[in-house]
Order: sequence, then structure tokens, then C-alpha cells
Amino acid sequence: MSYRQSLSYSVLQRHYILFFMQAILSRVTIFIFLILPLIVQAQNNEKVVETILSQLTVEEKLRLIIGGGFTEDASLRNALNKVPGAVGKIHPVKRLNIPATILSDGPAGVRIRPYRGLDSSRTYFATGFPVATSLASTWDTNLVKELGVALGKEAKEYGIDVLLIPALNIQRNPLNGRNFEYFSEDPLISGTMAAALINGIQTNGVGTSIKHYAANNQETDRKTVDEIISERALREIYLRAFQIALKRSEPWTLMSSYNKINGIYAAENEDLITNVLRGEWGFKGLVVTDWHAGKHIVQQVVAGTDLIMPGKIHELRGLTSAYKNDSLSIKAIDKSVKNILQLILKTPVYNGYKYSDTPDLKANAILSRKVAAEGMILLKNNQNTLPLKSDLGVALLGAASYNTIANGRGSGEVNKAYVTSVEQGLTNANYVVDSQSEIASADELAQSNDVAVITIGRNSVEGRDRKIENDYYLTSQERKLIKELSRAFHAKNKKVVVVLNVTSLVDLSDWQDDVDAVLLAWHPGMEAGNAIADVLSGKVNPSGKLAITIPKKYQDVPSAAFFPGVAFTKENPSNNASTTRVVEYKEDIYVGYRHFLTKNIEPAYPFGYGMSYTNFEFSKVSISSNDFKQNLDVSVTVKNNGKVAGKEVVQLYLNAPKASLDKPLKELKGFAKTKLLAPGESQTLKLTITQDELASFNTQRSAWIADKGKYMVTVGNSSVDNKNELQFELKKEIVVEKTNTIKYPDSVKALQ
Ligand code: GLC
Repeated sequence: MSYRQSLSYSVLQRHYILFFMQAILSRVTIFIFLILPLIVQAQNNEKVVETILSQLTVEEKLRLIIGGGFTEDASLRNALNKVPGAVGKIHPVKRLNIPATILSDGPAGVRIRPYRGLDSSRTYFATGFPVATSLASTWDTNLVKELGVALGKEAKEYGIDVLLIPALNIQRNPLNGRNFEYFSEDPLISGTMAAALINGIQTNGVGTSIKHYAANNQETDRKTVDEIISERALREIYLRAFQIALKRSEPWTLMSSYNKINGIYAAENEDLITNVLRGEWGFKGLVVTDWHAGKHIVQQVVAGTDLIMPGKIHELRGLTSAYKNDSLSIKAIDKSVKNILQLILKTPVYNGYKYSDTPDLKANAILSRKVAAEGMILLKNNQNTLPLKSDLGVALLGAASYNTIANGRGSGEVNKAYVTSVEQGLTNANYVVDSQSEIASADELAQSNDVAVITIGRNSVEGRDRKIENDYYLTSQERKLIKELSRAFHAKNKKVVVVLNVTSLVDLSDWQDDVDAVLLAWHPGMEAGNAIADVLSGKVNPSGKLAITIPKKYQDVPSAAFFPGVAFTKENPSNNASTTRVVEYKEDIYVGYRHFLTKNIEPAYPFGYGMSYTNFEFSKVSISSNDFKQNLDVSVTVKNNGKVAGKEVVQLYLNAPKASLDKPLKELKGFAKTKLLAPGESQTLKLTITQDELASFNTQRSAWIADKGKYMVTVGNSSVDNKNELQFELKKEIVVEKTNTIKYPDSVKALQ
């Protein structure tokens, strides 16, 4: 080796040594300054918890388990009510200087009172963000996390320690009264969006509550309904969303649901709370009941519930007597109290945070408008009716054009300073809005305007499901209005646009052919009208995609025949008939697109669908291997082939070999959204498939199993885009995860 070579060799050697030393140093630095403090903090908290636990009396422990919805100590009333309108409190322990912890709703914003007592000097309005269905329709986890950061900061500045969100029950049926609070019919989107929100909110040092665990998929008799669900459907759909969220985030708390599952109240279900949630998934947070949930509070604590909300005096007495008569052990009490103390130690109030009561509502309204527009789905746009040219004269019809709906009602309500209507939004965007629209005849409107915009509004409320007639179906007046306007405007070669400002789906079948464009706007929060105008005007190019299938007719919905179940009246010994409702999930795992695709039923608009004002081309679709070992990467290049900037959503679906189980034709296993691509610009996105994505739940073997055989990957911009198909093989089955068996009472087995 020449001197020069040896010189370059030793230089090279030094270079590599330096490189590795820097790599090691950077990891050590990250460990010392980021990870170690967290470990030390956790160990310190553990010690502090143990110390406090040793100092607490049994009465004080039980007082912590029962929520602070009441107190016998008048001196604590102000501390408990320091944030009027906040729905939940953990009782303080005055003797040990443990403050009251404050919990508030809700999925579309902080739910607190806007005014306090007689103090008219200031208000406490909160930001009305878009509802969860709208967030999911963005298919943009980064954007949803950004909203979470802002929402968490607003909660913290209003003195909230835990936000009781996200709600991620599966949208099993469009008539569910709380669909607006939920993300999707699919567990992957639901869990991924929930995790994004949790991670965003908790960066502020404010907690969250992933809810309602599990299968709270209807409002009819929600507090007593018995949901009969197979273990596979539970595991692959209704629990899966929670499991996915918990693989991607660490919510401080989890809220159980009101309903029974296979005969047992969720709040009292040791299988779901202790064996699955904590035993299999390793959840370390606090489990809280829904408000006034379940029946047997001792069983709730024994099953693994830590906090019983909102807290009533007879519950405190009940736990106290259970402890005294040995039906509730100090071990079970201490387990719950430790989880409560672990939570309290993390809260802003315990750490002395001085909140301002003046969150940045202006900045959050701007963010709300941005997210709302991103969650809107362009379903139809014949002859490029949209975007509307500027300065047009608009005949604006429909009550919701003038009273536009920001969000649904119930605990998901938000006390907002305003809601921008479609009329205001279009006016702000310099359209000439003819507000006499409701009076003039269709022909007069067609004569004096350039385009007609009709907003169809639907709202719903927690505690009640929607109706079919005049709710899911449009009213006869709405259908007549659409037909009349279409006739008159088309006679003058002018267009008609329908905006759906809805809590969940409505029927499109008998009117959408009469109109030229349909924009699904959902409940877009307080900036509704501006966000709708942003999309109608083209200021924002729509990029939302359906996270729920739109059926051609309601009867095509797989749960339609069994929703919302059957009410049984049981004569009991005292002869006062008690009614209980049972709903059987006979569609099993085939909820949403899993049903439509596998049974080959054509929907009105498929899962994952959404139009743009531009068009995109997918190319260079490739897979890292055709032989699956640990994981695979799928990459795709997306190019904007159109004339305006836009965003596209790449969706990855998997068709798995049947082996011993019947399986859906395809299931969503990954997705990613491009940045805003300029005309002609491309972006390459990479999605990773792990063993998790291959596995189906095999009930007989109590395991998630990836069956051996050939897997078909489809990469597209909707669940029916099959242009790009790839194949890989798994040569030997993989047992991805062994589980406990969820026990079913005999009475339920008979129904299975
Ligand atoms: C409600 C809801 C729950 C909410 C809680 C507090 O009944 O089911 O989502 O967080 O009570 O308002």
C-alpha cells in the first residue's frame, strides 16, 4: 500500500471513527437531556405517589375515587367550581395541599360557560373547531396534531387539566346521533386521528381522555343497551381503534362507555379494562367512567375503573360500606388511588401553572377555518361548476345558509363567540348574495343571479339517534326547492351547487342528479361560512376524502337491518316490566367499505373518495420486496398534472389470503397526504407495512395471525382505485400477538 494510499486510508479511518463517535455522542446527549429527565421524573412521581398514598386515610382515598360532583366541605366549593361549565372535578385533599383537578369536554372545543355569574366585564368564549368527522376527512395527521396543540393550549389557559377527548367510536350507522363526534367507519383512521389529537393536546402538559371504550355506536338507550358483538369484530373493529391509538400515543386517561357489551356494562368489564386494556395493551393511565354510567360501582372499581364521575354522595357511601364489609379491598382502592395520584401529579394545577383565562382565540379561529376547509369533500363538480368565478351574483337558499351549523349538540357543544354563516362567508369573499332568495320565484332568481347555492343543514344531539324521514332523507320542501331551482337555472344555462352542512350522511339518491356540484362540508366549526367560501371560490382547493361510505340507499348500510336493535320487555318477579334493548352486530367485521367492497355493492360515493380542482398522477409505485420478512416499504410518486396547486391522499389497501378465516376484499392499512403540490410538482411518499397490518384476529387461537400466502397491495386515491396493484408473499404464517380470550356469558353465546 503506497504512502498516499495509507495516508488516505488512515484519514478515512479517522473519518469513520469521528462519524461513529458523533453518532454515539448525539444519542447519549438525547438520552441525557431528553429521555433521562423523563425517566427520573417518572421515578420521582412514583416515589411521591407512594408517599402521598401512605399519608392518605381510607376516607380520603374513597373521596378521590368518587368524582368531585359534590362536596360536604363548603370551603372547597369555590375550588371545585373555579372553571364554571367544566363538567368534571377530582376532589381535592385539602390536608395534603392536593388541589382540585378540572376536566372538561369536548371534541370540537373547550366546553365551559361563556359568562360567569354577574361579571359582565369579560367573556369566556372558546374556539369552535371542526368536528371529528371533519378532522378525519382531512386525512392529514400533521394538521390534526397542529389543531390538538392549539386546542390543548386553549384548554390550559382556561384552567383545564384534562380534556375529555378524543371520541373515536366507529361510525357503524349514519343515524347515530353522535357521529359528528367520531372520526370514521374504519379503525385505522379513527385510531390514527385520535393519536394525532392526543399527541398535539398533551404537548401542552394537558391530559386527554380517549373515549368511549367501547362500542358506543348508538344513542338509543345508550345507558342500558346490550351490544352483542363477536370477539373478532370487537378485536378487529371496535377495540382496534383504541389499540391503534394507544400504539401511537399515551392518553392520560380513558373513558369507558355507557353500554353493555355482551351482557356486561363496559364500566364493569374486567376483561376489557384489566385483561385487554392494561394486560395486553399495557395502558398505564387512568380509567374513568362516563357520567352516571353503569350500575355497580364496587364492580367498577374491582374491574379496573379508577374514577367514578361525576360523583354522587350515595356512591361515596356505597364504596365506604363496601370497604367496611370487606367487599372492596384496600388493594383495589389503592390501585385506583395510585392511578388518580399519577394523573394529578402531571396536571398544570398541581404544578402551579398560572393560567391566563385569555387564550389566543383569534389565532385559533384562523386555524379552525384552515382545518375546516381541509376537511371538506368535493363529491360532484360537473363541467367544472366550481370554483365559482369572483363577483358572481349568488342566489343563496336553505336555512343553513343563514344559520350555518358549527357542531352537534350535547357534551360536544362549544360556547363560541360567533358562527360565520354561508351568507357572511360568501359576502366576505365578494360575492353578491341575493338575500331575498327565500321570497323570489325560482325563475326570478335565475333571471337576476349567476348561480344558485343551496345549503342543506342537519344537526343531531347526544342521547338521541337521527330519524330516517325528514332527517336522513331530505324533506319534500328541500327536494322541491332543488328541483325548481335546477329547472329554472338550467333553463338559462346556469349552475346549481348544494352544500351539505350535516352531522352525518344524508340521502343523495333522489336529488343529486339535478344539481351540478355537491360539497360535503360537515360541521366545520365557528368559521364555517368563511371555510365554505374558501372552497367554493377556489381560495382553497378541496382535498378532503370520505372516511365513511355514502350508500346509494340507506338499506345498503350493513347495520341498517339491525339498528338500533330490539327492545325487550322482561316481566320480573315484582311484575314491573323492565325494558332492555339488545343490538346484535350481525354484520360482524363487515362495517362500511369492508361490506360494500366484499359484497360488491356499489355505493353512491366510496370510502376514501374526494375530488380536487386539479388532477394527480401516481407513478413509480414500488415495493421494497416481494417476500415479506419483518416489514415492507411501498413508495409512490404523486404528480400534480393540473393547472392549480392541490393536495392528494395516497391510500394503501391490503387484500390478505383467506387461509382459515373469511376476510374483507381489502382493508385500509396506511395513508399519507402530500404537501400542497404546485402544477407540475411531484412528491414521493413512502408507506410501511408491518406484521400488524397483515394480521387478522383468529378467535379460535386467541391470536392475531398473519396467514401465509399471497397479499395484494393496492395504492390509490380511494378504496375503489385499483390502478396500482402490487403483490408480495408471506412464506410462513406469523403469530403476531397472542391475546386473552374475552369471556362471553352463556346467555350471549346463545345469540352468537
Ligand atoms: C357525556 C358523554 C361524554 C362526556 C361526559 C361529560 O354523557 O357521553 O362523552 O365527556 O358525559 O360531559
